[in-house]
Amino acid sequence: MDFPLLNLTTQPDVEGFFDSASNTISYIVKDPASAACAIVDSVLDMDYAAGRITYDSADRLIEAIRQRGLRLEWIIETHVHADHLSAAPYIQQKLGGKLGVGVGIKEIQDTFGKIFNEGTEFQRDGSQFDVLFEEGDSYTIGEMTAFVIATPGHTPACMVHVIGNAAFAGDTLFMPDGGSARADFPGGDAGELYDSIQKVLSLPDDMRLFICHDYGPGGRAIAWETTIGEQRSANIHVGNGKTREDFIAFRTARDAELAMPKLIIPSLQVNMRAGEIPRDDSGTPMLKVPVNGL
Ligand SMILES: [Fe+2]
Repeated sequence: MDFPLLNLTTQPDVEGFFDSASNTISYIVKDPASAACAIVDSVLDMDYAAGRITYDSADRLIEAIRQRGLRLEWIIETHVHADHLSAAPYIQQKLGGKLGVGVGIKEIQDTFGKIFNEGTEFQRDGSQFDVLFEEGDSYTIGEMTAFVIATPGHTPACMVHVIGNAAFAGDTLFMPDGGSARADFPGGDAGELYDSIQKVLSLPDDMRLFICHDYGPGGRAIAWETTIGEQRSANIHVGNGKTREDFIAFRTARDAELAMPKLIIPSLQVNMRAGEIPRDDSGTPMLKVPVNGL
């Protein structure tokens, strides 16, 4: 694939923040030429058994941005996460910035609007977000130009964000020894995921790739930075010339054995609303559990 906006000479400062409860890595991506920065994939802490939401992970990001005197321009969601809640509105309220997600959010809102039996007041047009990205769209962070690559398969809204010589994989790829994310959520598709991964692997070999989750397979230390070249040669699910057919067969069999993520039910209700907690008729924050609905 051709990437007209590719610019490897811009090298953003990237800092990862690991959330051990959901094995998510959130990022602060800073323009080396200015105080501008973006957050990629923030986390809101939730104790689901207690129905309790707290802000320690989000506060860590906010504190880091304040301490460094940075200006938050963007809050990016690589996709609608099913394993953790987004802290985007909380962060936006404190630091500003525009909230962006892939245009496939509309499909997710449609699918899960039905599953959660939402009423007509729940908009399915993505209007809860400030910007809906489409394939090839670009935006700026200070003097850096970022662009997006549509990578459906794990979810329809998945986007890889390329910012200078750094790409943010979302759940398209894990570390090379972690392989790839599941493709069995509603709207997911293993063949589409394979095709999306091939697009990502056509980025330059020496591009840095930052992944969204790591589970430390085989007991190795948690890691989140790799390169396109490493993925192409060593990714256990798609590297080294694995075929589309191999991948679909493997992914489908593996996904059938995976349990649902612990936080999928609250995560989707919140994340499809751009991180806002839904409210009942009285205005009280309230989550639903659809019985046998997933
Ligand atoms: Fe995900």
